[in-house]
Amino acid sequence: MDICEEISRIEEECFDPAWNYEEIMFELDNPLCISVWEQSDGKLAGYALARVIEDEGELLRIAVTESFRRRGFAKKIMTRMLGDMKKRGASVCFLEVRSKNSAAIALYESFGFGKISVRRHYYKNDDAIVMRKELS
Ligand SMILES: CC(C)(COP(=O)(O)OP(=O)(O)OC[C@H]1O[C@@H](n2cnc3c(N)ncnc32)[C@H](O)[C@@H]1OP(=O)(O)O)[C@@H](O)C(=O)NCCC(=O)NCCS
Repeated sequence: MDICEEISRIEEECFDPAWNYEEIMFELDNPLCISVWEQSDGKLAGYALARVIEDEGELLRIAVTESFRRRGFAKKIMTRMLGDMKKRGASVCFLEVRSKNSAAIALYESFGFGKISVRRHYYKNDDAIVMRKELS
């Protein structure tokens, strides 16, 4: 499995703008990056990409391909990602999410993330909600 190709396939399905193959490869090669993924039947079900800088983690991406949704993959990926961030020394995690993305917001809230601010018109047709969770 070419992980960059598999991730870019899910990127195309889930995000606009999507990260392309080179952008994903660049991120995976970045020493600050943490990546976590889950497979099923030899196929990539979902992944997350994050960065840790000193004691701060930032979740950049999390996505599960449509046919694998609502089966607990994001929960597994998120649990591993937050654990890996802590191991790298992060004591807090931040993320940004579209205000209309109720599935992702429900996922983050179920992990104890709280809304800390709103960035109006951050996306083309939506605001960004900034969320935060203490990891210690
Ligand atoms: C958000 C996303 C990653 C969730 O993936 P998933 O594998 O379906 O999530 P899980 O099955 O692990 O669900 C975990 C929890 O998230 C919440 N959740 C997930 N999908 C939901 C939905 N459609 N509606 C409401 N809550 C939802 C629930 O709290 C759920 O727990 P529960 O099943 O016990 O109720 C997936 O919908 C996705 O890839 N969306 C497109 C990409 C995206 O928007 N990413 C986030 C922005 S970076």
